[in-house]
Amino acid sequence: MDTLNAQIRELRKVSGLSQNTFAEKFEIPTSTLQDWEHDRRTPPVYVVGMIDKILSNERIIGRLSAGNSILNKAKSAKDNDEFYTTYETVAREMAHYIPQFKNKVVLCNCDDPFESSFSKYFIKNFNHLGLKGLICTSYYASRVIGSESELVDENNEPLSTDNGYVLSLTSVPKRITPESKDEAVHSFLKKKKAVKKLKGNGDFRSAECIKYLDQADIVVTNPPFSLFRELISLIVEHDKQFLVIGNQNALTYKEIFPLIQENKAWIGYQFGDMEFRVPSDSEPRDTRYWVDESGQKWRSLGNAMWLTNIDMNRRHQELALCKVYDSLSYPKYDEYDAIEVSKVADIPMDYEGIMGVPITFLNKHNPEQFDIVGEANHGSDNSFDLFKPTVDGKLKFKRILIQKKRLVAGA
Ligand SMILES: C[S@@+](CC[C@H](N)C(=O)[O-])C[C@H]1O[C@@H](n2cnc3c(N)ncnc32)[C@H](O)[C@@H]1O
Repeated sequence: MDTLNAQIRELRKVSGLSQNTFAEKFEIPTSTLQDWEHDRRTPPVYVVGMIDKILSNERIIGRLSAGNSILNKAKSAKDNDEFYTTYETVAREMAHYIPQFKNKVVLCNCDDPFESSFSKYFIKNFNHLGLKGLICTSYYASRVIGSESELVDENNEPLSTDNGYVLSLTSVPKRITPESKDEAVHSFLKKKKAVKKLKGNGDFRSAECIKYLDQADIVVTNPPFSLFRELISLIVEHDKQFLVIGNQNALTYKEIFPLIQENKAWIGYQFGDMEFRVPSDSEPRDTRYWVDESGQKWRSLGNAMWLTNIDMNRRHQELALCKVYDSLSYPKYDEYDAIEVSKVADIPMDYEGIMGVPITFLNKHNPEQFDIVGEANHGSDNSFDLFKPTVDGKLKFKRILIQKKRLVAGA
């Protein structure tokens, strides 16, 4: 895909104009604009530059400050939200929850029906998991739509970035299995005309998409990181199960931490490094970025995670403790009666009070072994953020505060 094509798509998207209005405004035939947006022809560089300048001058997007072009601003914000999960990442995590998916309706609500590894995984494994249904919705401005196959909706119209789409299935032929090739999935979807235009833009917060949420049992997806907390809050409000990719920074957000503390959400298996495909127009980076032999661009995150409320074996396993408490090795915080434990492996087996432990503890947490008392972050006004973790005036990393579970008398 040519970067100029992606730039035109981005410019039209940030302008908020439909293809027709945008084409009319810049006196371009609509069919030419469609060819540019669908990578069939490349727009001249001076046209892209001119449109960018005009839109910036007009400040169509009032919230953009002067100076930088619309394109640069919109793109750099967007790049951080466009991480596409690999099939292996989905399959590896899902392997731990297979029985819980039987007879369930799965919703992938940030997913392109033909390109996303989530939809491919659930289609190929539909019968193996014994699913009752699969619904995948895609957002109108998808940057990958049409990148794998010439696609059409139920009316034989090519899929376009102007629309949100929904794929809804209640059965998948037995011939499609986890070993099937992607092409088999694509041709099944095309033949079945299973992908339909949404009325709206496919925003998971829209009334139309919330109706799909209400029909589902489990949400499995990778939302834009900037919308992670909104997605989780919505799912919890609708009392659904979820298995969702996020950034570990979200663990201490005020919408997420209370769920962890109250055992309404916990960390999945893969926690730390995760590789993602990124769109072909993503900017190169100095670290955690590479291009493979096929030209596919990749980025990795060192602090990715799955967040879930589906029960799993790991959270019933006791963390083995082999250290013994002594006051020299475990100093107290300056402002709070709790000890600093800088490594999870050093949690003492015999300390009854509150302990500050690294955030990676959450990946080992067994709620029958420890209570989560709060967090020691940076003294924000969140009621669970109890103090700033300093020892002898030195600020430590943010800590999770835990305490050994007390045995209730007579229990
Ligand atoms: C991080 S990417 C993940 C894509 C895909 N689920 C995957 O991992 O392969 C986030 C996706 O959410 C879509 N998206 C952005 N804003 C959205 C919204 N408000 N509602 C639903 N989807 C959205 C983007 O178009 C993009 O496809």
